[in-house]
Amino acid sequence: MSAPRVILAIESSCDESAVALVRADGLVLAERVATQAALHATTGGVVPEAAARAHHTQLPTLLSGLLDEATGLGLQSQIDAVAVTAGPGLLASLLVGASVASGWAWGRGLPIVPINHLEGHLRAAWLHAGAVTERHVPVQGARGAPPAAPTLPAIGLVVSGGHTLLVRIDRDGAIERLGGTVDDAAGEAFDKIARLIGLPYPGGAALSALAATAGTAPVGQGIRLPIARTDKPFDFSFSGVKTAAARVALAAIGADATAPGRAGAIAQLLEERPIPSSAAVAIAAAAERAIVGALVERVERALDATPDAALIVGGGVAANAVLRRALVAAAERRGRAIAIPPIFWCTDNAAMIGAAAHAALADGRAALRDPGNGVSVSASWRIGTEAPQ
Ligand code: KG4
Ligand code: ZN
Repeated sequence: MSAPRVILAIESSCDESAVALVRADGLVLAERVATQAALHATTGGVVPEAAARAHHTQLPTLLSGLLDEATGLGLQSQIDAVAVTAGPGLLASLLVGASVASGWAWGRGLPIVPINHLEGHLRAAWLHAGAVTERHVPVQGARGAPPAAPTLPAIGLVVSGGHTLLVRIDRDGAIERLGGTVDDAAGEAFDKIARLIGLPYPGGAALSALAATAGTAPVGQGIRLPIARTDKPFDFSFSGVKTAAARVALAAIGADATAPGRAGAIAQLLEERPIPSSAAVAIAAAAERAIVGALVERVERALDATPDAALIVGGGVAANAVLRRALVAAAERRGRAIAIPPIFWCTDNAAMIGAAAHAALADGRAALRDPGNGVSVSASWRIGTEAPQ
């Protein structure tokens, strides 16, 4: 079969249910995203069973809304393949998406392609908007004048609540994993430290806003939150910064900070005796400095090891203004191009899965399959390796 014109993409790997119609040139024709943030805020984190159940209720509604929009735009007949996230992610959530996608593709007689969620985050940099969707108005370069697509080779950084990954994307689109976190993801570290200082889940953005109130005052300068060294040059470790932040927080309320103990006990203690706001600001500023510093250091190392590589960034933590500024500066110092998608395509969405599917099919890294055979999913599908069988 020739390359698909329009791909219908479905994403459900974590706590966003999403569907999109994406053209081969990266134009997003229509999209829908339903976040479960409010649901998971009640439990202070994602409960996998609750997430899967929410995908199960949300996806059919999103899909029918998207298809109504496609009919209105005269696009239904141009959809000639379906793409679905097959990992990594929460197993039950992936299964819901795979079932909805393969069922719909089978009913329409269309082929299906399983896509790696992290490859999606990297390919978000190729997206551009043409249609006004319910979710957003056209971004820069919309309507016939897409912004220049990123060039390859590139170093790719994905930083989200669930992932911290560094890759090299070769000229032919092949992806080589350089490194990733050995414990917490960057967003997870932001969220856990945010919780320590009394901010609701997910607290990354609020922590950053609090850190910004420190301004240029030397708040937090005295606090050093060390980032653990890793054996491999492109790996990350963030659990040490969380433990160090807990120590500072406990000391700020006069509690025993020598043995921080279990996260739940610390959280409860800090709920009963909230830390003074000046200490919260200081911890937020120091944590942001440490996490951003670790990310930028590895990215610079990867750029230096790969002459001519552009830099591509994805994932929800790319919303962090301090990180964005530091990455832009790191790329500019080396004369490299940098692509950071608008925030609604940095966070989980289905348009990025459509873009990744078009690229993987065009590069021969993926093949269209018969949906009658179902779609296998894997919670731990490693980027750059074969799709789960
Ligand atoms: O990609 P994403 O939307 O979703 C998942 O990982 O599921 O990323 C969400 C993560 C959360 O950990 C959130 O706290 C973090 O991104 N985040 C931020 C900021 N905005 C979102 N972290 C630091 N600074 C921000 N401005
Ligand atoms: Zn994601």
